[in-house]
Amino acid sequence: MKSILVTGATGQIGVELTQALRDEYGAAYVTAAGHTSQPPGDLTQTGRYCHFDIRDASALNQVVENYHCDTIFHLASLLSAVAEAKPLEAWDANMNGLINVLETARTHGCAVFFPSSIGAFGPETTGFNTPQDTIQRPKSLYGITKVSGELLCDYYFHRYGVDTRGLRYPGLISNKALPGGGTTDYAVDIFYAAVKNRHYDCFLRGDTQLDMMYMPDAITAAITLMEADSAKLKHRNAFNITAMSFTPEQLTTEIQKYLPDFTVSYCVDPVRQAIADSWPRHMDDSAARAEWGWEAKYDMTTMVKDMLEQITVKLNKKLR
Ligand code: SER
Repeated sequence: MKSILVTGATGQIGVELTQALRDEYGAAYVTAAGHTSQPPGDLTQTGRYCHFDIRDASALNQVVENYHCDTIFHLASLLSAVAEAKPLEAWDANMNGLINVLETARTHGCAVFFPSSIGAFGPETTGFNTPQDTIQRPKSLYGITKVSGELLCDYYFHRYGVDTRGLRYPGLISNKALPGGGTTDYAVDIFYAAVKNRHYDCFLRGDTQLDMMYMPDAITAAITLMEADSAKLKHRNAFNITAMSFTPEQLTTEIQKYLPDFTVSYCVDPVRQAIADSWPRHMDDSAARAEWGWEAKYDMTTMVKDMLEQITVKLNKKLR
């Protein structure tokens, strides 16, 4: 990777991945791209930022050409709850955005990273130790775009030799940019509510178990996969990866170790609950471990400690 473009750079993953790539490869070699003309300051202060709509193929081509990009981390996407509210918009952004990226990569010889998700599975799939290769019949529009994306990336690899690689991320927990309308967002929102108000109103049932990961592991995974020896990759699009698995009730108990007066009530959103009920509780990530050495550093205990410390500082509050 010599010159990198990150699409969706203002999003939950994008903000942190862009910074990590700039630290690793040099700020001059990492271009951030997003749809907003007013990105967070960090993105523009530490390097180049371009503003365009991912559905605009010629704008994308121009940026790749101008900066001689050889790798595209394509993160621009609408998340699951937003996609249910705006299915046509989600199809347009998620699929036409991806095909533009793949076509640009084919023309300019770029490698492509594409994040898939636990959302790529559905209720017919085994929810515990979900195999790498298994039935994928998602019921959410978001999941449909993720499975289609995995297949499209495979197609561009087999048909045109584009070096496409991808991960099936579980729910991602982070403390820089907020997630934008996903089903697993509760696991981020709960920390802000705990530190600010000592109370959280959860939109999923207390016993909803989902696969989760802390952002530092998600960032390491993306960079490690893109650096991995291509010859060793049997699966490209996309690898199951996991780090921890918990319910809102279990997460609450862990947070209460630091904030004993923290309480949670439940006001279940039927749309997001139905999505969550169809997703894996824990994926089998043995293919990622075997093919490129994947290993998570954070479990629930270490993640909660770090999240509370970071958010307490961010919100200028006191823990305890
Ligand atoms: N975090 C995403 C969502 O909830 C899943 O990949 O939509």
